[in-house]
Amino acid sequence: MRKETLRLIFLLLISTHLHSVLSWKKEEFRNCDQTPFCKRARSRAPGSSTLTATDVSISDGDLTAKLTHKDDPHSKPLILTLSVHQDGILRLIIDEDHSLSPPKKRFQVPDVVVSQFPATKLHLSRLTPDPLSSSVYLSDSHSAVLRHDPFELFIRHDPSGHRVLSLNSHALFDFELLREKSEDDDWEERFRSHTDRRPYGPQSISFDVSFYSADFVYGIPERASSLALKPTRGPNVDHSEPYRLFNLDVFEYLHDSPFGLYGSIPFMLSHGSTRGSSGFFWLNAAEMQIDVLAPGWDADSSIALPSHRIDTFWMAEAGVVDAFFFIGPSPKDVLRQYTAVTGTPSMPQLFSIAYHQCRWNYRDEEDVDHVDSMFDELDIPYDVLWLDIEHTDGKKYFTWDRTLFPHPEDMQSKLADKGRHMVTIVDPHIKRDDNFHLHKEASQKGYYVKDSSGNDFDGWCWPGSSSYPDTLNPEIRSWWVDKFSYSNYVGSTPSLYIWNDMNEPSVFNGPEVTMPRDALHYGGVEHRELHNAYGYYFHMATANGLLKRGEGKDRPFVLSRALFAGSQRYGAIWTGDNTADWDHLRVSIPMVLTLGLTGMSFSGADVGGFFGNPEPELLVRWYQLGAYYPFFRAHAHHDTKRREPWLFGERNTELIKEAIHVRYALLPYFYTLFREANSTGVPVVRPLWMEFPSDEATFSNDEAFMVGSSLLVQGIYTERAKHASVYLPGEQSWYDLRTGAVYKGGVTHKLEVTEESIPVFQRAGTIIARKDRFRRSSTQMANDPYTLVIALNSSQSAEGELYIDDGSSFNFLQGAYIHRRFIFSNGKLTSINLAPASGSNERYPSDAFIERIILLGHAPGSKNALIEPSNQKVDIEHGPLWVLRARAPAVMTIRKPSVRVAEDWTITVT
Ligand code: GLC
Repeated sequence: MRKETLRLIFLLLISTHLHSVLSWKKEEFRNCDQTPFCKRARSRAPGSSTLTATDVSISDGDLTAKLTHKDDPHSKPLILTLSVHQDGILRLIIDEDHSLSPPKKRFQVPDVVVSQFPATKLHLSRLTPDPLSSSVYLSDSHSAVLRHDPFELFIRHDPSGHRVLSLNSHALFDFELLREKSEDDDWEERFRSHTDRRPYGPQSISFDVSFYSADFVYGIPERASSLALKPTRGPNVDHSEPYRLFNLDVFEYLHDSPFGLYGSIPFMLSHGSTRGSSGFFWLNAAEMQIDVLAPGWDADSSIALPSHRIDTFWMAEAGVVDAFFFIGPSPKDVLRQYTAVTGTPSMPQLFSIAYHQCRWNYRDEEDVDHVDSMFDELDIPYDVLWLDIEHTDGKKYFTWDRTLFPHPEDMQSKLADKGRHMVTIVDPHIKRDDNFHLHKEASQKGYYVKDSSGNDFDGWCWPGSSSYPDTLNPEIRSWWVDKFSYSNYVGSTPSLYIWNDMNEPSVFNGPEVTMPRDALHYGGVEHRELHNAYGYYFHMATANGLLKRGEGKDRPFVLSRALFAGSQRYGAIWTGDNTADWDHLRVSIPMVLTLGLTGMSFSGADVGGFFGNPEPELLVRWYQLGAYYPFFRAHAHHDTKRREPWLFGERNTELIKEAIHVRYALLPYFYTLFREANSTGVPVVRPLWMEFPSDEATFSNDEAFMVGSSLLVQGIYTERAKHASVYLPGEQSWYDLRTGAVYKGGVTHKLEVTEESIPVFQRAGTIIARKDRFRRSSTQMANDPYTLVIALNSSQSAEGELYIDDGSSFNFLQGAYIHRRFIFSNGKLTSINLAPASGSNERYPSDAFIERIILLGHAPGSKNALIEPSNQKVDIEHGPLWVLRARAPAVMTIRKPSVRVAEDWTITVT
């Protein structure tokens, strides 16, 4: 009886929760005025900081100084440390003086800066003597200058004397020291029904950062808003909320809002037409609020600084200053520098960049079987089938509802026989059920996050009363890692991978639907200090679990909803619970682009929209766009109508199938780009300005984007669109991907659009490798031959790359891969090896060959081609641009050149 009543109360709670989530509830979340540190910081006037730098010296290869208040020389000083790293990276740390025994150590986020980074430190030995400032060389062309009074740090381009970046130029720097509570102190903060005890008092940090020669700033995900960040303060700014970085489970989020969503990356880049890009990263996991200041915001200030400067104001609730400055100068340089600190994106398995089929929920084994076989019946490839929370026994992760899923191993192996994989969900909330072994173990071992009184924190999530493993603690992470072994995760097989959701963490009855800020973690760290990185540590532990399960041989795949700087090393991210409407389709592009700009290259939005039922036209358009997201997955809420690709009539099935086919054809190109991201940090999808950095017309364009450097994609974001305006940058032309039609660069074209596809163009001067034979899954295409599409520019030349490896292991790190550059010039196509000279061929032997070469823009008249060294002649003929498409236009084609991808050869058109 009692159990029934509890169950009823719980169901009621959940349903109220679900109800309340049917629309964005502004009042559930704090704004800046309701957040004391934000309100305080924002009310300060420029020039209010009186800190001066004293005792400047070089110690242990770093520059160190004390920061003291000029008007209060007896106040406790702060300690500043500047270190210089390769590639002109400057790191600034400002913390309390530990020799003065602050009440506790402030939290400096561990495990985000990659272990190789400290080794890139350059040993400083010389300070330029000057009573007013101290400077050190950052690179051949740049210096870092610390002005003493008032304290200011700036980076200067020495040859021109121009500034690149600066901190505290407006003297807004403020650092609240930790304090022991005395009887008179009332530090408690209340929000709705919650009280935050704040045992060490206010401890926020804030300062201004200026970007010079900048037209726009970008970055600081995650939010649904434009790519170029709009000013939040100053003259003519209509909304006054700063950009918030605070990981939250925001239901039915709005499509245009500065409000922070599930993840936080405190990294901002600037870009301008004259001197390119620079970047600033503040490694701090506390709530952050960031203002982008409109020109004239400091009208009263007497400080004269050059125009084309963008001022920003950064405020964090806790932590230390651990900041990195990146001098660029190109956007790709900034990405290389940022990922030298936080790591480049991990190399995904090939299957995980193909198409994923998900919904909340695939009901049972029969449902799984049916969906799977429908894809086969209709010849639609897919690689992964997902199971959401209902597959478990009462929301206890690592278990199966044995009535619905009695044979999980068989189910997975049936999929695996077709080269397919399965993903199951594992969230961080652990059901507080004494019969649940995981809970028993975690509570006995003391592995849960504690509440402010030191008891296991108990909050509500999908399973009801739940606790959360404290994955900040390395010991708890190792424990979690072992939960993914085949013996611990009963019913799992090698083709099963993982989805981490709700890891902000989401707590239905917590303040702002998350964990209270005074909850306690390992080492006495308060949740407020760590909040934005909680999901990161959980994601890390899960990815390491899969790594260990595969004995270090199998690349993990883990999708996470929460993210922080560095998440790119652990897997993919999706943009959470979007809505099936055109605005959400549109905003998915700036969201994905922003994630890529901040290192998180492997991301995507729920295709179709999570909440609501998309009209067939919207669904089709979403597939057409989603086929170019780095992470391509359809997903839907359990209250929505079923929407597998075949449920909207034959014509729409055909259209969706074609969109998926295009992605499969382009997999070799995407995979090559994923490898580029893995080695350089440059994201798979990019804003146009990353490829055309001096073209101002591209700076705020977030409706079109580049996939790599060769493809430009323009989404269609309105119903029944007949036309689209597409700006094609650059001096070269562009070829329509479907028809091969050529368009001039540097102009905006008004193009007709049909339902058949969104506009996509291949840039003249590039070569793309495709696979045009379709099978059930990417895995089954592994040995298929390639098609090269050569898009010639006006000098009849083109270049492109192809990267191939086994698609799943780490052997590529030992050189087991093929990496070729194809160059077409003077009528001759040459394949050049880019892999290390010594025998990559032996390490990754492959018989893969090229079955077709398409020449776009070649002068007519050539009849055949000579292949060397085999000295063979093959015919040039007119063949279809897309073999599988009935009405594909005919283009100049070298058929069956049959050269091996792994070998050196040339093909001369005669
Ligand atoms: C969250 C996720 C969503 C998932 C649901 C149930 O809302 O964002 O993708 O389907 O939880 O697990």
